[in-house]
Amino acid sequence: MTDPKQLIENNHAWAATIQEDNPDFFANMAKGQSPKYLWIGCADSRVPATQALGLGPGDVFVHRNVANLAVHTDLNMLTVLQYAVEHLKVEHVIVCGHQHCGGVQAAMSNTDFGQINPWLRSIKDTYRAHAAEFEGIEDQASRVDLLVRLNVATQVRNLAETDIIQKAWKAGQSLQIHGWLFTLETGKVTDLEKTISGPDELTSIHRLDV
Ligand code: CO
Repeated sequence: MTDPKQLIENNHAWAATIQEDNPDFFANMAKGQSPKYLWIGCADSRVPATQALGLGPGDVFVHRNVANLAVHTDLNMLTVLQYAVEHLKVEHVIVCGHQHCGGVQAAMSNTDFGQINPWLRSIKDTYRAHAAEFEGIEDQASRVDLLVRLNVATQVRNLAETDIIQKAWKAGQSLQIHGWLFTLETGKVTDLEKTISGPDELTSIHRLDV
């Protein structure tokens, strides 16, 4: 399917199906949103956010970029995060990586990607910080898989280290940051058990007097 007109037809059919089940669905949606989840995922077309969680419109606030990064200088990510945490009061932030991630694979290579280089740079830093864990792993797919997981854990920590998250915790807001992995071969999500739920789990250098 390559014709964009077909997409609009699909959309109209989709809206009609939802409205058939619930005539007020879109009228209610137009009144506002109160999602409980912020999803930070890869831009990869194979990793849908809302659909993969079995949820629908209004349920998930979504931010996606190449390799699901939460870089502390990225104003785009920080804007999404602040809005989601301060205004929408999401209760869970989910960083979801995925196997065979092109961004992670690119970061593992020595190829010069031009404009993409600075974006991939922090993934290389994560590799360097965990270089010992890669020793003895020869298989490239296994190496990528390990870096995908380490990258997710790094982003969970990056988020917890922001003033945005720390202020929310200080204010007594219940907020957990999760690291998940989406497996392309099965469509299933796995909890990598990297959840951070409070400032006590931060290293002291990253704790802010918020
Ligand atoms: Co990816």
